[in-house]
Amino acid sequence: MTIKVPFVDLNSQHEPIQTQLQQAIQDVFAKGDFILGQALSDFETAFAAASGTEYGIGVASGTDAIALGLQACHIGAGDEVILPANTFVATLIGVVGAGAKPILVDCDPKTALIDLEAASQAITPQTKAIIPVHLYGQMVSPSQLLNFANTHKVLIFEDAAQAHRAEREGYKAGSVGIAAAFSFYPSKNLGAFGDGGMVVTKDADVAAKMRRLRNYGSSQKYVHIESGTNSRLDTLQAAILNQKLPYLSGWNSDRLTIAQMYDRELAPLAAAGIIPMENQSGTGHIYHLYVIKIDDSCPLERQQLQAQLTAAGIQTGIHYPIPCHLQPAFSYLGYQQGDFPQSEKLSQQILSLPMYPGLKNSQITEVIDAINSSLKLKQN
Ligand SMILES: Cc1ncc(COP(=O)(O)O)c(C=O)c1O
Repeated sequence: MTIKVPFVDLNSQHEPIQTQLQQAIQDVFAKGDFILGQALSDFETAFAAASGTEYGIGVASGTDAIALGLQACHIGAGDEVILPANTFVATLIGVVGAGAKPILVDCDPKTALIDLEAASQAITPQTKAIIPVHLYGQMVSPSQLLNFANTHKVLIFEDAAQAHRAEREGYKAGSVGIAAAFSFYPSKNLGAFGDGGMVVTKDADVAAKMRRLRNYGSSQKYVHIESGTNSRLDTLQAAILNQKLPYLSGWNSDRLTIAQMYDRELAPLAAAGIIPMENQSGTGHIYHLYVIKIDDSCPLERQQLQAQLTAAGIQTGIHYPIPCHLQPAFSYLGYQQGDFPQSEKLSQQILSLPMYPGLKNSQITEVIDAINSSLKLKQN
């Protein structure tokens, strides 16, 4: 089967800046400062500023950014952390990695973001923090989050792995809570040539602890004041990310333009049960993913539509097919099928359409045409 519209195409991003990327790699090669080198501190400073914070601490992955970031905020054993059931499992793995107890809650079916009303119900005297996941590139409302945190006296630790430079209500993703985690997995809006992550914060103490935790608990060579780990963003990856960072805003606005075209073209299909996830943040949504819901009123089921699109050469994804509470690894948490009905329903009905800077209008038209033909086939 020839792929006519890939789900993601990283080459369209990298080819135009190939020379400068190669030069950046060459520079690290010449300098030889592979661990905690100059390009890393440059990138940490630049990315922290881009996310409206002061300190950036590069780590090996977004998962480590959550696990170590929570620890840097003194969140761990004996603490409960509220997070959505509808997220990539790494959010949950990060909480477990920090030694805290994960408390899952349901999501808002219109946006797929954490339901703060449900989160309020989950508060106990042990609740130390909430992790809003800025899923698909849309922030959880900062004003509502801050209100929640003030009311319940808990910390906000943002999972901004899908939200590089997203904005809402005048806030930048990463700047709302005590600290935030980003991922630079290659297909993220800002992606490395391998794994990578970062914690950003405005708090100097959190930043200092975080720097130790990623570096064997040490800030002075061979003196270890706590037990950390080895999780540093490679200088080489930081050098690549440094070159890519100035293009991020442009790439994000390309994604927004693509999303707006999808929105326009899909609007007539709402009556047939094809509903895009709601954008509640206007131009601040950075569309890491463009997700539609194939709801109960649609003559097609999600699997059928996905199969038809695949047959038409269009790659799609599902983010995510199994909510966290139903993942076998976490059965010990004691959650059951039926605990989070909105997350469960979304996992059956959502479909992510191709989305990347460089996706052509003609390709978007192919996606829309293929959806229309699938619906017609079914109706006839
Ligand atoms: C919402 C979310 N949280 C955490 C992560 C973990 O990031 P990483 O894959 O870099 O460990 C990801 C990405 O994979 C993610 O999408």
